[in-house]
Amino acid sequence: MARGRIVLGIESSCDETGAGIVSEGRLLAHAVASSMAEHARYGGVVPEIAARAHLHSFTPVVREALDQAGLRLSDLDAVAVTTGPGLSGALQVGLAGAKALAYAAGVPLYGVHHLAGHVAADTLEHGPLPDPCVVLIVSGGHTSLLLVRDLVRDPILHLGDTVDDAAGECFDKVARVFGLPYPGGPAIDRAARAGNPRAVAFPRPLTGPKDDPYAFSFSGLKTAAARWAEKHRIAGDDLPVADGAASLQEAVADVLTRKALAACRAYEVGTLVVVGGVAANSRVRALAEERCAAAGVELRVPPMTLCTDNGAMIAAVGDLLVRAGASPARLGVSIDPSAPLEYAALHPAAAGVWTPAA
Ligand code: KG4
Ligand code: ZN
Repeated sequence: MARGRIVLGIESSCDETGAGIVSEGRLLAHAVASSMAEHARYGGVVPEIAARAHLHSFTPVVREALDQAGLRLSDLDAVAVTTGPGLSGALQVGLAGAKALAYAAGVPLYGVHHLAGHVAADTLEHGPLPDPCVVLIVSGGHTSLLLVRDLVRDPILHLGDTVDDAAGECFDKVARVFGLPYPGGPAIDRAARAGNPRAVAFPRPLTGPKDDPYAFSFSGLKTAAARWAEKHRIAGDDLPVADGAASLQEAVADVLTRKALAACRAYEVGTLVVVGGVAANSRVRALAEERCAAAGVELRVPPMTLCTDNGAMIAAVGDLLVRAGASPARLGVSIDPSAPLEYAALHPAAAGVWTPAA
């Protein structure tokens, strides 16, 4: 029996160096090194530190992935790599490494859009995505609502994006004001357990009747949380962090799930996929489950290790591209740090020019 083609995926757009291996939709290996601890004292990712950390981690992480799968470089059939969006220096390290591997192994290279990777992550756990589905991407850098048909053949329709901060960014920045550690999302989630979600009436931005139903805004919410903390400080009170965290989390979860379900209703879509680091938030998950169940919508959320940045999700897109017979990138392909999400493949050959397998 002919074996399935094997795709190595590389991710280096932010602070995680990821290498994953996927074959015919099956996850064979998943290795990640994070430089998060090196950024903690600065309260956010420092691009130069991230790029240098990728340089250190690239080879060991790829080796670990190959070892996990019991494979050698010569067993690979393709290499897929995030070419954008992300931090320029960080992306460049991953792309240079991926080009070297593809060249050395004599296999095609595919450039992948980072957000398409987040979407594909779910297929590794729950199988192929239904066509169509609504995808809510919520991470430290992105908050987008998408209508996805065939992920690698069809254009991806952006229903809405954040007009300012991403949801994770809001958690991270407010956590800092509340005196909680970086990254703020998990810290807010933990603190919220002891709090009352109705203690503070934080705003629900862009949810008025005249507002864009699918656009998000979190910077006003961040400011409201900072003002609330400031008011307590000026009054000389102890900050009721648990109540603030629970109320903030409630506001974010409410807005995210309300808009995602409005999109499912408007486009008559039966499946909602929630991906990205903020999909780990306990209240976002619980409220999504509650509202999807009430609306008769199937909810898919990948496991945590596939929600945060990783190479397996990029390999998953590469695997779909290979199986769809998409044309690979040229070795001269470059990064695009602010690439809009139009197609899953992010190299010129994919921009509307889809060539079937020979
Ligand atoms: O997808 P991700 O790992 O990286 C990108 O930004 O691409 O997402 C990281 C974000 C951070 O903002 C982090 O604070 C947030 O996800 N996050 C959470 C939780 N776990 C991670 N936010 C809220 N609750 C959590 N449990
Ligand atoms: Zn990401």
